Amino acid sequence: MQPVISIQQLSKTYASGHPALKTINLDIHKGEIFALLGPNGAGKTTLISIICGIVNPGGGKVLVDGHDIISDYRAARSKIGLVPQELFNEGFESVLATVKFTRGLFGKAPDSAYLEQLLRDLSLWDKRDARIFELSGGMKRRVMIAKALSHQPQILFLDEPTAGVDVELRRDMWNMVRGLRERGVTIILTTHYIEEAEEMADRIGVISRGEIILVEDKQALMHKLGKKQLTLQLQQPLASIPEQLNHYTLELVDDGHALVYTFDTQREHTGIAELLKDLAQRGIDFKDLQSSQSSLEEIFVSLVHGR
Ligand SMILES: Nc1ncnc2c1ncn2[C@@H]1O[C@H](COP(=O)(O)OP(=O)(O)OP(=O)(O)O)[C@@H](O)[C@H]1O
Ligand SMILES: [Mg+2]
Repeated sequence: MQPVISIQQLSKTYASGHPALKTINLDIHKGEIFALLGPNGAGKTTLISIICGIVNPGGGKVLVDGHDIISDYRAARSKIGLVPQELFNEGFESVLATVKFTRGLFGKAPDSAYLEQLLRDLSLWDKRDARIFELSGGMKRRVMIAKALSHQPQILFLDEPTAGVDVELRRDMWNMVRGLRERGVTIILTTHYIEEAEEMADRIGVISRGEIILVEDKQALMHKLGKKQLTLQLQQPLASIPEQLNHYTLELVDDGHALVYTFDTQREHTGIAELLKDLAQRGIDFKDLQSSQSSLEEIFVSLVHGR
C-alpha cells in the first residue's frame, strides 16, 4: 500500500548545533492511528513541525500524499490538520470567525453546515460568538482542534492533545478521533499517557534522542507485553526438558538450574497449577520461584534508557 506520509533520511540540526533528528525513516499508512512516543526533547514536535512545514528540514525528503513538503508545499500542507502542542490563538476574534478564517486560508469554499457540525461536535457551538480570550484553557484547545479540522484534512496531527485536559474533553477528543478514523482520516498523535496509546493506536513508534528506535503494530506489541514469566529454581539441574512437558512453553536456563515458563496473561488459565503438578509427578523439585511481568511502561522506559 502507498504510504500517506513517507519520510526518508530526514535529519534536523537546529541553529544551536543540537541534532534534534538523526536520519529518520518512517512510513505512515493511510487511515491508521499512529502514536509517536518518546521522552521530553526526543524530537516528536520537531518531526511533526517539519512534516507540517513549520520547521525547515535539514536533510532528507518527506512526501505527504505524494507531494514533496518543500517543492510542493501548498498541496502537501492542504492535506494536513495540525493541533500543535503549544496553543496560540487570535484572542480578539470570535470562535466562529477564527474557524471560518482558517478554512479560507486553505482555499476551501465556505461551508457553514460543516463548521456548525464541527463546533457542535466539539461542544463549542454555544460559544461560537465568544472571543477566544474569554474561553477557558480546555475550550481554547477545542478551538485549536476546530481550526485544525476546518478544511477537512485527510491527515490529522495531534501533538500532546490531552496534556492538561479534563476527563470529559479527553473522552470527546477520543470519540472524535475514532469518528475521523472511520471516515478514513489518518491520525498521528504524540502522548505521554502510554495507556492512551495502548487504547487508541494501531501502530506505535518510539523515538529517543532524535532516532526512531521501534515501530510496531500495537497488537503485536501487546502480545509481547501480555506475557508473564515464571522462573523455577530447580533442586537438581536438568539436562533437557522432558518430552511430556513439550506442550508448555518452557525454557531451560542457567545451565539447567532454572526453568522458565512463559504464559499469556490474557488467557483465562495460566496453566501454572497443571505445570506444577506435572513437575511434581516427574520428581522435578524446585527450591524457589519468581514471577515477572513487563508492562508497556517498563518496556518503554527500558527501550529509551537502556541505550
Ligand atoms: N526552535 C528550536 N531551536 C533550537 N532547539 C530546539 C528548538 N526546538 C526544539 N529544539 C530542541 O530539539 C530537541 C527536540 O525538541 P522537540 O520539541 O522536538 O522534543 P519533543 O519530543 O517534542 O519533546 P516534548 O515531549 O517535551 O514535547 C530538544 O533538545 C529541543 O531543545
Ligand atoms: Mg513536543
